[in-house]
Amino acid sequence: MDRIRIRGGHPLHGAIRICGAKNAALPLMAASLLTDQTLTLTNLPHVADISTMAYLLAEVGVGIHMNGHAPGGGASGRVFELTADRVTDAMAPYDLVRKMRASVLVMGPLVARYGHARVSLPGGCAIGTRPVDLHLKALQQLGAEITLAEGYIEANAPKGLKGGNVVFPSVTVGGTENALMAATLADGETVLANAAREPEITDLAHCLVAMGAEIEGIGTGTLRVRGVKALHGAVHHVVPDRIETGTYLTAAAITGGAIELVGGRLDLIEAVVDLMTKAGVAFEPTESGFVARRADSLRGVDCMTEPFPGFPTDMQAQLMALMSIAQGASMVTETIFENRFMHVPELCRMGANINVHGASAIIRGVPRLSGAPVMATDLRASVSLVLAGLAAEGETVVNRVYHLDRGYERFEEKLSACGAEIERIRDD
Ligand code: EPZ
Repeated sequence: MDRIRIRGGHPLHGAIRICGAKNAALPLMAASLLTDQTLTLTNLPHVADISTMAYLLAEVGVGIHMNGHAPGGGASGRVFELTADRVTDAMAPYDLVRKMRASVLVMGPLVARYGHARVSLPGGCAIGTRPVDLHLKALQQLGAEITLAEGYIEANAPKGLKGGNVVFPSVTVGGTENALMAATLADGETVLANAAREPEITDLAHCLVAMGAEIEGIGTGTLRVRGVKALHGAVHHVVPDRIETGTYLTAAAITGGAIELVGGRLDLIEAVVDLMTKAGVAFEPTESGFVARRADSLRGVDCMTEPFPGFPTDMQAQLMALMSIAQGASMVTETIFENRFMHVPELCRMGANINVHGASAIIRGVPRLSGAPVMATDLRASVSLVLAGLAAEGETVVNRVYHLDRGYERFEEKLSACGAEIERIRDD
């Protein structure tokens, strides 16, 4: 397994191009199942999860032309042309779902378009049990018959889905995405209440409207969908990745440098900007994005992760790395996932002073971290260890960087272009 070796202590200066959002691209790719015409997605990131979703869709029978040319050119990201005009097998097998939970996002489109879907129950993952009960309940409320057998979900609606009222008991990004996609082809009107409002859902809704869906309340917690008989093809540019943006602005802050996030959008990360500003980070809009720099000494701030527009859970580990060298103490409370502090023992190996009490961690800033060999456990935990390594004295080696490759494109290249001493050690 590849490892990443960092020698810390270099303030980072330069520019980093932000890619299309992995967590928007995944449901957008699944949305191709809703029509027999071609859905062209541009600005897709080159990350492992996108390749996994492409593989799953191809297995199901979706024709995928990769790296076409974005209409009108443009240097940004991968282009996929997806055409679901000969889907043979409406199923997502265990070995793929096990590898990437987001595979469950094919369920809503499949049952809406073909009247049935057989999707492996995703297992838990490092950050929590991550059930899909809310996805299933929503599809049932749209008329799907759900049975669970041998580790698989069977969803059936032989006469098609019926519009209905879905009230999510708690906010779920994936559940909202599955239900929204299914509702576009249901007969009648659907209301999704207490829907997630993440920018990736707004991006998906805009794409669905471009495909002919009728959706109101985009960007709010209540989505109204009037089902249509069929959707058509479209061309859609994937929204920039706000978590990649937040990750690299944290790299500028933790190393005491200044980085321009090209294509980064401040409006997608307002809660992050507010908190980072309090912590001593300065932001300056530019023609093509914005510059983030450490304004003065870092100060400890308190944070509670919340559904959008609150502080994103996917930025919690990165913030914790930053707070480990801030002046004073900070408290970080994780309210979304039940086990998302696995980066804590690894950061402590680097000299951080962090104590976990249930869903909260108390971080007391230390003057310097020291490099050490550390273990990545999930996508965002692994990136927090790299951030800590960039600021630490000496050498840090992060093991199991396949976690990183799931969500960050050309990670070490982007950082070394800004002056980081970072290299990938490939295991033959
Ligand atoms: C999406 O996961 C993201 N993944 C996650 O990003 C992100 O952390 C999460 O949303 C929260 O923002 C993708 O978009 C591919 P949820 P998702 O359904 O949809 C519970 C990353 O690092 N829940 O909003 O799975 C669940 O256990 C990844 O890029 C149920 O109980 O998140 C969790 O505690 C990590 N039943 C909470 O709700 C359900 O049916 C939020 O989950 C569904 C969820």
